[in-house]
Amino acid sequence: MPLKSTWRCPSNIALVKYWGKKEGGVQLPANPSISLTLSDLYAQTSITLVHGNVSGQPAFSFLLDGQRKPGFEPKILAFLQRIWNDLQVVREYHLHIESVNNFPHGTGIASSAAGFGALALCICDLEEQITGVKFENLQQKASELARLGSGSACRSLFSGAAVWGETPVVQGASDLYAVPFDKPIAEPLNDLMDAVLIVDDEEKQVSSTQGHALLKGNVYAPARYAAAQENMQRISDALNKGSIRSFIAIVESEALQLHAMMMASSQYYILMRPNTLAIIEKIWKFRENTGLPVMFTLDAGANVHLLFPKMYNAEVVNFIETDLLAYCKNRQYLCSSTGNGPEKQNE
Ligand code: PMV
Repeated sequence: MPLKSTWRCPSNIALVKYWGKKEGGVQLPANPSISLTLSDLYAQTSITLVHGNVSGQPAFSFLLDGQRKPGFEPKILAFLQRIWNDLQVVREYHLHIESVNNFPHGTGIASSAAGFGALALCICDLEEQITGVKFENLQQKASELARLGSGSACRSLFSGAAVWGETPVVQGASDLYAVPFDKPIAEPLNDLMDAVLIVDDEEKQVSSTQGHALLKGNVYAPARYAAAQENMQRISDALNKGSIRSFIAIVESEALQLHAMMMASSQYYILMRPNTLAIIEKIWKFRENTGLPVMFTLDAGANVHLLFPKMYNAEVVNFIETDLLAYCKNRQYLCSSTGNGPEKQNE
């Protein structure tokens, strides 16, 4: 029987955003970030070691939902090249990778965080199996590897909230890997939901890789990095005290700062669409009218993430279905709890 490892790894949504890389390293963040793990949106990935590899370079095959997707292969190859020196399993075997996402294609949801998280876990697991040596901290090692595939992926390895990037706010925080947020999270922030409102499912005109690079030469970048450092302190306090008003102000401002950086780049661009803004306005109105603590955040795309404490699930689902679905492509939205991290699957 060939050796095989299968892991399920969730996606994550950043509250304080990673946007911009440090110079002079590989995938090091210019500022710290914090995210919530989205337990219901995940990738499940298996790697099978079918045969050896003596080619002197990474060898792999990749299937997504049972089909070859050549568009993903350059990113996987670049990832395997980065970890080549570190891992025997990559040097000695052909990796047959099969991945499925539990959320539909064509929703514009970035699957790379979940995908690289799961891939890194399978690789660590197989490395342990072939060398017979256990990693001191498998999650941390997998987080470090996942970072080399897609920066934000390194935060998907932990349940609850994860922090990536040097900051005095969280003990042990590092640019190399993410760590769990180290303070208790008070109600009602300890049980947030994320409803992802699908505004656009087209491929982005400007990829995240290009977006990060455009921070170089952006005159606002130093101020943005300083704001993110400050927001880490403020969000840590808000989470710890359960201060929802302050939490909302930081989360929404972070989302808009992310998009402001795109608009202020030398090659400026806008990823929000008219329906993104319409939904944001509806959320603000709903919050004003009902007093319920709902808020939005954005990724590098047009979709809106509507965050809210689980206790208001019924009211918020009703709000989405009556007021927001008209702005969603094909009336699509996906709802996830926050919480659980990756899980190893039985073969
Ligand atoms: O991980 P990347 O390189 O795809 O960067 C994505 C960064 C954002 O999703 C926009 C923000 C974040 O911190 O996740």
